[in-house]
Amino acid sequence: MKKIAFWVLGIAIAIQLIRPDFQNTPVDETIVLKADAQVMSVLQKSCYDCHSQETNFPWYRNIAPVSWVMADHINLGRKALDFSNWGNMDPKIKLERLERAKQVIYNHRMPKQEYLMMHENAVLTQKEKKVLEQFFDSEIHTLN
Ligand code: HEC
Repeated sequence: MKKIAFWVLGIAIAIQLIRPDFQNTPVDETIVLKADAQVMSVLQKSCYDCHSQETNFPWYRNIAPVSWVMADHINLGRKALDFSNWGNMDPKIKLERLERAKQVIYNHRMPKQEYLMMHENAVLTQKEKKVLEQFFDSEIHTLN
């Protein structure tokens, strides 16, 4: 029993040495997404931790293996869609992501479930979904 506890503790400590890299890079105000206050507050509350350079890192950000999952979410999330780089996005890709955004909030794929377990307030209400849907539609309209 003691031996097992020793190994479990040893592994728990050892994995802490693998530290993924996920930082915020400085934000360029000229290319960030600009929308009205209501839209911004929903996006910031439910999407920005993985889809912007304004991630709020929790206290457990450096604790493996949670940090590995978080790094994956943030790095892949930003790659798919980065609201801090909105102005520089290729219009074709932007259009596609906006269409996808409507789908993923509708079918509960975003925000991710693992994230919602730790961020209850990020769950979208019906009203907030409507706010986002209208915003995505209006952006799609200006691009078409
Ligand atoms: C916990 C991190 C996290 C949060 C919060 C989050 N996303 Fe994502 N999102 C991801 C990751 C990671 C991907 C990359 C693809 C995947 O894993 O599904 C992604 C992909 C996407 C895509 C591209 C999907 C595709 O299939 O092309 C869209 C659109 C998107 N997210 C929209 C949103 C919106 C809108 C919100 C807020 C309502 C949100 N996400 C919240 C992590 C997140």
